[in-house]
Amino acid sequence: MQIIDGKATAAQIKAEIKNEVEGILAAGGRAPHLAAVLVGHDGGSETYVKNKVLACEACGFRSTLLRFEDTITEAELLDVVAGLNADEAIDGFIVQLPLPAHIDEQKVTEAILPEKDVDGFHPVNVGRMSIGLPAFVSATPLGILTLLRRYNIETSGKKVAILGRSNIVGKPMASLMMQKQGGDSTVTVLHSHSANLAEECRRADIIIAAIGRPAFVTADMVKPGAVVIDVGTTRVPDATRPKGFRLQGDVDFDAVAPLCSAITPVPGGVGPMTICMLMLNTLQAYKQRA
Ligand code: GUN
Repeated sequence: MQIIDGKATAAQIKAEIKNEVEGILAAGGRAPHLAAVLVGHDGGSETYVKNKVLACEACGFRSTLLRFEDTITEAELLDVVAGLNADEAIDGFIVQLPLPAHIDEQKVTEAILPEKDVDGFHPVNVGRMSIGLPAFVSATPLGILTLLRRYNIETSGKKVAILGRSNIVGKPMASLMMQKQGGDSTVTVLHSHSANLAEECRRADIIIAAIGRPAFVTADMVKPGAVVIDVGTTRVPDATRPKGFRLQGDVDFDAVAPLCSAITPVPGGVGPMTICMLMLNTLQAYKQRA
């Protein structure tokens, strides 16, 4: 059984990006610049955004963090987005989700210029990606495909079971894995209303779990020799940890890992790759503007 080390792979890719940025700077160019908008004080969002800013530093990017209280109105946030769209100094930006309930996330996402939408959430990018055109691809699915490739895991013609149908992970993951230029796989998408979910998982050569239910994938759902990718990062209370919680994936790792040919851990698997792909998307946005 092989542990797929997302942390190490992400560090390697960030070093490659840094190297490229140093070349740009040495040639007299400017650094790529990512902006992040954070509304409110959600613990998970604070951590993600902090890690995105740190990743920018590691890659030699400029970053700008714009923070707002959760009392910001939708109109005010849309003004912030319009300002970033128009700002020549910003190559790409993200609005960290979730947003407070009084703000329409879809409206905010659609207000972002597709050329600066490095999250790949705008319908133009989602649509272009789904028909195989150049686009910003949502970072988590892109990170998973990159991990599979860097670990030389065969995907062509393989049966892939994706658990979860979210717009951010499940749906774009299914799109990427079925495409000839992507995974070239046979894809099944499973969700809360799927019949025979365990049986469908057992048929899969590759399981990608993104349902946000801690330890949902158990040993009886996994074919011996399968590859298991765990996207889950639920905070579960744990008094033995300094912060009072630990991150639990969607997979019962201890029971499932011995069965697998390869598996991602939580933390240190998909998470670091997601942030790293955001950096790659930002570099791409920069190059498209240069
Ligand atoms: N919330 C959870 N994941 C993400 C992400 O990849 N991008 C943004 N903007 N918000 C998120």
